[in-house]
Amino acid sequence: MLHRRGRHGPARAGALLLSLLLALAQGPAEGEAEAAEQLSPYFGTKSRYEELHPHLLEDPLSLGPPQPGFPLPPASCTPLQLSALVRHGTRYPTREQREKLGRLHALVLGRNNGTGSPCAAAERLSRWAMWLQPDMDGQLASRGRRDMKALAGRLAARFPGLLAPQRRLAFVSSSKPRCLDSAHAFREGLREALLQHHRGQQQQRPTAEGNETMIETFEINDRLMRFFDYCKKFIKDVEDNSTAMHEVNAFKKGPEMKKVLEYLNDLKQYWKRAYGYPIDSRSSCSLFQSIFKHLDQAVMESKSSKPISSPVILQFGHAETLQPLLALMGYFKDAEPLKAHNYHRQMDRKYRSGRIVPYAANLLFLLYRCDPEKDYKIQILLNERLLQFPHSGDTVSSYTSLENHYKDLLQNCNFDEVCAMPKNPSRTG
Ligand SMILES: *[C@@H]1O[C@H](CO)[C@@H](O)[C@H](O)[C@H]1NC(C)=O
Ligand SMILES: *[C@@H]1O[C@H](CO)[C@@H](O)[C@H](O)[C@H]1NC(C)=O
Ligand SMILES: *[C@@H]1O[C@H](CO)[C@@H](O)[C@H](O)[C@H]1NC(C)=O
Repeated sequence: MLHRRGRHGPARAGALLLSLLLALAQGPAEGEAEAAEQLSPYFGTKSRYEELHPHLLEDPLSLGPPQPGFPLPPASCTPLQLSALVRHGTRYPTREQREKLGRLHALVLGRNNGTGSPCAAAERLSRWAMWLQPDMDGQLASRGRRDMKALAGRLAARFPGLLAPQRRLAFVSSSKPRCLDSAHAFREGLREALLQHHRGQQQQRPTAEGNETMIETFEINDRLMRFFDYCKKFIKDVEDNSTAMHEVNAFKKGPEMKKVLEYLNDLKQYWKRAYGYPIDSRSSCSLFQSIFKHLDQAVMESKSSKPISSPVILQFGHAETLQPLLALMGYFKDAEPLKAHNYHRQMDRKYRSGRIVPYAANLLFLLYRCDPEKDYKIQILLNERLLQFPHSGDTVSSYTSLENHYKDLLQNCNFDEVCAMPKNPSRTG
């Protein structure tokens, strides 16, 4: 039941695809790279992380301006657990995307070849060499490796108490090479950050002991990171259903550009990965519960003064892993559904996939113990910025009130039940 991508392939998204690929063109095509940079905010899930944090363009390790309310005051609150869900870094186009671009490129070449003066853009494009190779399909780009190493460095700086030498790290990844490579690059970035930190400390403490080691476990878990491949009901009702994307297909026939292409991508994500159909988000129940199971365990261990068995959990997946979970939790829900005909009313929509899940997107659950009350608190960050809790609008919540808010999901959202196909209706009469 694996791999069913792009069944309803966008015929008209060629322009977006083209500009997107040009963004990856690190070659001599300076002009195009600039143009691609101007377009990048509209790339939806293909956006670069730096669109959200422009300061990273200058210094990929910079933490940016301080955020009010984050972290909780260290005098009273100690971080106990970090549970991170990370999207892989920048990747090369998939095979389908590469082939589509190849056809488009050939078309441009063919047109330039003929009589008549080609438009300037077409002429520039015809000078661009199609450098994508089959062995790059869907792989993590070197840029993606840098995305991950830098993210690791920043997280180590943000959470020095948790991402510290000798802390236990639990890595989980999707089986896709781009995710495995992302986890690997993240690990490398983290190791470098810890070593540097160690060196810094050694100057003050010359007796510090030898090599810093990382204590880690590594697990490939597609049922958790690619739940959408295992949810029968989702596959049948949405993925393999040629009418499920009717809003998306209707919009493709409409006019306009750039922002329209962004909307087209958002529309697809919305209907397939978020609020379009209840199964979109409910397919992530097991992931949701596993995050809370780890939080629960940490709270319990802390209450009985035991060491936290999983202080750091680092999970590597896809845009399709993060979006359903965020929707399940109630984030970025527009009052009115995104539709083909309400594009103008959705100009200020919350569902902007480029801001939610660019490459290297990350969702961080941070659990604290706050003294002297021994109160457990939680903060959630998306792409390193505090998220407001949907139930309170606040950026910090007591763990019990959050559990209470999600009580129904925690008790009743069962993957096997939610994803099961209805039994064949037995014929009566
Ligand atoms: C361009 O034209 C030449 C001859 O005029 C032809 O041999 C070649 O195949 C054409 N290239 C494309 C891409 O159509
Ligand atoms: C760590 O180990 C490596 C090789 O095992 C060694 O070359 C290096 O000097 C060690 N560093 C420290 C700080 O002990
Ligand atoms: C396909 O999607 C449409 C639109 O949501 C829905 O009405 C229909 O029941 C779905 N078909 C199947 C086979 O799930």
